[in-house]
Amino acid sequence: MINKQSPLPIYFQIETMIRQQIERGELKPGEALPSERIYAEEFGISRMTVRQAITNLVIAGLLYREKGRGTFVAENKMEQHLSGLTSFTEDMKKRGLTPGSRLLTFQIAPAPKKIAGRLQIKEGAPIYEVTRLRLADDVPMALETLFVSTDLVKDLNEEIVISSLYEYVEGKLNLKIGHALQSIEAISPGEKEREYLQVSKDVPVMLMARHTFLEDGRPLEYVQSSYRADRYKFMIEIKR
Ligand code: GLP
Repeated sequence: MINKQSPLPIYFQIETMIRQQIERGELKPGEALPSERIYAEEFGISRMTVRQAITNLVIAGLLYREKGRGTFVAENKMEQHLSGLTSFTEDMKKRGLTPGSRLLTFQIAPAPKKIAGRLQIKEGAPIYEVTRLRLADDVPMALETLFVSTDLVKDLNEEIVISSLYEYVEGKLNLKIGHALQSIEAISPGEKEREYLQVSKDVPVMLMARHTFLEDGRPLEYVQSSYRADRYKFMIEIKR
């Protein structure tokens, strides 16, 4: 299967072979890959070459390494459609997964200038600042920090944010969520992302910022969520 005469570098041929085995289901999510030594012996190539192929697949998110245990095939990426203004809770339930949150911080703080501008309140006015690790079937999916005005979202508490913010806003406060502006950018994981999303610094993270407005135009929230780029992909339908 490996052609040493080919102009294609050997590491690339190995990489392609493993990629195809994953695509065809010959290597399944969670399955351990043979060791570098076995590949090297089978194809008569150096372990360095094998390592390069495997590292590329780790960076691409198809494989992951566990210290002392080996290399494994990653779970299929979760697709998130960006067509509707849905909550994390709704997204996970739609997929048949159980949503959950681990509350990392919950505080009332004076709004810094930027956040105040986004929420259209005075700088220093009180806001809730909440950081949650969002879970699906107990697996960390996203690290999320939200900012909302204490004036608009009254009596928010820890119990509510462990469950669903949108359910509270619509179901209890009877506010109507209208639209949001959302941006996505790739970042290298910072210390917090590495710790809570359990990623190494080689795995990119997608930072999603959502600025959500009520139907009457008042800003409801400004939220930053970091998703593991090796677990998630975003789908957007585009029309001509
Ligand atoms: C997503 C959005 C956030 C929003 C959250 C609400 O994660 N990115 O902007 O605050 O959903 O989710 P829930 O209602 O589950 O708290």
